Amino acid sequence: MEPIGIFYGSTYGMTEKAAGKIKTAFGRAKVDLYNLATASVEDMKKYRNLIFGTSAWGIGEMQDDWERIIDGLTEIDFSERRLALFGLGDQKEYPESFVDGLGTLYCRLPDKSCVVGDWPIGGYDFYFSLANKDGKFVGLVLDDHNQKELSDGRIKKWVAALKKEFI
Ligand SMILES: Cc1cc2nc3c(=O)[nH]c(=O)nc-3n(C[C@H](O)[C@H](O)[C@H](O)COP(=O)(O)O)c2cc1C
Repeated sequence: MEPIGIFYGSTYGMTEKAAGKIKTAFGRAKVDLYNLATASVEDMKKYRNLIFGTSAWGIGEMQDDWERIIDGLTEIDFSERRLALFGLGDQKEYPESFVDGLGTLYCRLPDKSCVVGDWPIGGYDFYFSLANKDGKFVGLVLDDHNQKELSDGRIKKWVAALKKEFI
């Protein structure tokens, strides 16, 4: 497999921690981690396999660092790439905007044809999520506030699926 770049925005470190676990789940593949607080679109261009992660902040909001970089994604030619998304949220406190950051990240991608790694919606308890597209989440959804014990298994399963999709 070609190298993988994981880019994440994380305010309290929960998405950062999940990104580290995703890297570990890829085993011997080369995986580089980038916190968007310091990373750039130029860093993303180095990878044909990309993973983007964000937490959720209110109705429709991505983690702040994504706001800074999202419009620059038009500089990347996604046609020769694979992109998978993951999002963290809190379904108990924010059931009407659960993992909305993930949904907004997907919506604002300039090219969605490269997106792989959707995720079943079952097993979560919420009213509404922008990340719900046609009955599936647009990427892996983790809730370390309420379902921490499920996260490792979810990551393992998702990464196994990505190994078949990535270049
Ligand atoms: C002020 C505030 C607003 C939030 N809004 C949402 C939300 O609308 N939907 C959601 O699923 N989670 C929401 N969350 C939960 C965060 O997304 C969650 O705590 C996440 O794990 C934080 O990850 P991070 O530390 O990587 O930023 C909110 C948290 C705070 C403190």
